[in-house]
Amino acid sequence: MSQSPGSFTPFDLILQQTLPGDPERQTLVTTLQAIEQGGRKISALLQRGPLLGITGSAHAQNVQGEEVQAMDQIGQETFLTLFRKSGSVLGVLSEEAEHPDIFPVTQPAPCLVAMDPLDGSSNLSVNAPVGSIFALFRPVSQNASRSGETLFIESSSNLIAAAYLLYSVSTTLVLAIGEEAHSFTLDPSTGEYLGSGVPLRFPEGGKIYSANEGYLPVWEKPLQQYMSWIKTDRNPPLILRYIGALVGDFHRNLLKGGIYLYPADIRNGTKSSGKLRLLYEAYPMAYIARLSGGIATDGTAPILSIRPRSVHQRVPLIVGPLDLVREFHDRTGSPLD
Ligand code: AHG
Ligand code: MN
Ligand code: MN
Repeated sequence: MSQSPGSFTPFDLILQQTLPGDPERQTLVTTLQAIEQGGRKISALLQRGPLLGITGSAHAQNVQGEEVQAMDQIGQETFLTLFRKSGSVLGVLSEEAEHPDIFPVTQPAPCLVAMDPLDGSSNLSVNAPVGSIFALFRPVSQNASRSGETLFIESSSNLIAAAYLLYSVSTTLVLAIGEEAHSFTLDPSTGEYLGSGVPLRFPEGGKIYSANEGYLPVWEKPLQQYMSWIKTDRNPPLILRYIGALVGDFHRNLLKGGIYLYPADIRNGTKSSGKLRLLYEAYPMAYIARLSGGIATDGTAPILSIRPRSVHQRVPLIVGPLDLVREFHDRTGSPLD
């Protein structure tokens, strides 16, 4: 490792993982600058949130029919504005907007961004961790006559990078690109994001599971049996940790070794599609997991093999290190091949 710990930046990672003549290199640099800038702004706002009166509900509903917190809207506007200005982002799909936004671009190889601008927003009112999630795609075309929906759906197999920001005691940026995922910490005094240069890797033998077990009665039988097994008969048993923000739960599990589960449920005989969204929650976490030695599935198939039918599609999500996800699949009757 040529860099000393703490001097490795997201820019270094992009240079390391792309080739000099690749026009996508500049797009990645510019788009990452927008994510970093947005992260600095949201992080600073969140630190003063209650003082600014921005943790409460905005008394509106997003396209999922959920109550929008004021901070959801600030996150949406912040990142949308930065991506529009970047010249490197052709389109943005967001949890907070029904239709994707399409922008004029100045870069020769622009990207598409699918984002959850504020993940876990119900944590805000109790000063618990929240995040922002991003998936970057290579567009199949820059033809303006296509609808944004079609563009995102057709480009969904061209994932080129994924990132999240975790706003907690400190602000963390995790970026996955090429063959590696890295973690960086925001230094609020300089605005820099600094990492060790050592790629992230799920540890083996993790002992954590993360799920909202309050839903146990509406889960399928094999899943209920697995839940009982990990606590009683498994050696060693798994212990529960649940923050209630995907970014926070995933990040802890990535560092400590743990499996995250947000399965489908069955109510009145109807099986749900899960809660989390495929393009801007499951895909980016699946990509980061893959580059960190893990895997994400919907309980049957790898997340990254699922092609969306609609841009806000929901999926069940099981994600973590290969050993724990493989064990889950073996015990619930859908072994990974
Ligand atoms: P969002 O705030 O973007 O709607 O996401 C909330 C998600 C996810 O972050 C979290 O893991 C999950 O909802 C928690 O759901 P439950 O409250 O049902 O456990
Ligand atoms: Mn979310
Ligand atoms: Mn959100």
